[in-house]
Amino acid sequence: MESIIRDIALAEQGKVKIDWVRAHMPVLDEIGKRFAAEQTFRGMRMAICIHLEAKTARMAQLLQEAGAEVYVCGSNPLTTKDDVCAALAASGVTVYATHGCDVAELEGYMLKCLEKKPHLIIDDGGDMVQLLHEKVPEYAENLMGGSEETTTGVLRLVARSKAGKLRFPMVLVNDGDCKHLFDNRYGTGQSVWDGIMRTTNINVAGRTAVVAGYGWCGKGVAMRAKGLGAQVIVTEVDPIKAIEAIMDGFTVLPMREAAPLGDFFITVTGCKDVLTAEHLQGIKDGAILCNAGHFDVEVSVKQLRESAVKSWKARENIEGFLLPCGKTVYLLAEGRLVNIAAGDGHAAEIMDMSFALQALSAEYVLKNHKKLPPEALPVPKEIDDYVARVKLASLGVAIDTLTEEQRAYLAGWEI
Ligand code: NAI
Repeated sequence: MESIIRDIALAEQGKVKIDWVRAHMPVLDEIGKRFAAEQTFRGMRMAICIHLEAKTARMAQLLQEAGAEVYVCGSNPLTTKDDVCAALAASGVTVYATHGCDVAELEGYMLKCLEKKPHLIIDDGGDMVQLLHEKVPEYAENLMGGSEETTTGVLRLVARSKAGKLRFPMVLVNDGDCKHLFDNRYGTGQSVWDGIMRTTNINVAGRTAVVAGYGWCGKGVAMRAKGLGAQVIVTEVDPIKAIEAIMDGFTVLPMREAAPLGDFFITVTGCKDVLTAEHLQGIKDGAILCNAGHFDVEVSVKQLRESAVKSWKARENIEGFLLPCGKTVYLLAEGRLVNIAAGDGHAAEIMDMSFALQALSAEYVLKNHKKLPPEALPVPKEIDDYVARVKLASLGVAIDTLTEEQRAYLAGWEI
């Protein structure tokens, strides 16, 4: 077996997890049946860099069942689940991923996927695309294109595309309606609080949650905090998002003013240095800090470590820090995505839609790559609509259909 994983003996445990999520991913299953019958990706090599947990494993298996040779690696050292990787490897997918690996190993695993000279890639956060351009451009010689899973990766791709520096077409799956409207908002909203609550075993009702960033993810995190009975403070840099937060019933403050008030701090901006040493000076004693943005740069962990008098393991996935002012703060999951590094990630029904978009976008690139420009591209509307319709059908929900007259009325300008 070519895979590099922690322990193949964990395969049975991982298989149970994959089987469970599969039963809750009807849209992906429907697509998988067609792909398997048509052998859509026969002869293709696919490289996938993603948070390696049960739902992503199911997507990788499905692509393999559709005829592809699939090579996967993790997009973050702490979100890799070793048992799931073992099950994936046992099912024939080549896996290069170990939980808790260091940054150099993580890159090494990515390179191992890329040295297969893939035809298609699925990236999450943009690291694989970055490597292909900056370090190993020769590995892109067969590449038809790929797709990107998250907001941070989209930002990097759009910047690269605008600069004319993208060498192949990349579909922005994150920006598909069936992705960010559900995954970023409801998925992150639920799984972040699941991660915080299971990690801390601390009550949320009656406490104050500070949510940094009121984008798609932040809206979900704030909404669920409110539902749990917390007072919610939002910090923002975008005046329009700030007004949205106010009208949704939340208090908006600069981080400096929110710092003394919060019991829980959740950064989810995609930006860096959102919670820094400056904010720590006034922070509330006992505050719990965590991040749900893609990279571990939102809570400035380096500054926290440098300014702390001492640090200790307070509980699994919680590090305590004594600050010079005598206050204590707690950091969850080393400042990495709390919902996946200290939880199981989004609900399977949510990832069903995200990965349905991924699978169909891969097919779209395969079938259209000769005419696609080397740019950051939207998910075709037909794919979004198809995924929404299959999802509704799986929920047993019917909707109305426009009559011809209604369609003409909506499209016309004469009336
Ligand atoms: P978004 O672009 O919709 O929202 C980000 C918001 O943060 C914007 O409103 C922006 O104005 C605000 N912001 C930027 N810098 C800020 C700062 N310094 N202080 C306060 N607010 C600031 O992005 P989205 O989709 O909400 O994603 C946010 C991050 O979460 C990204 O890194 C994304 O990749 C990641 N993500 C994480 C998921 C998870 O499972 N934890 C799931 C999906 C996305």
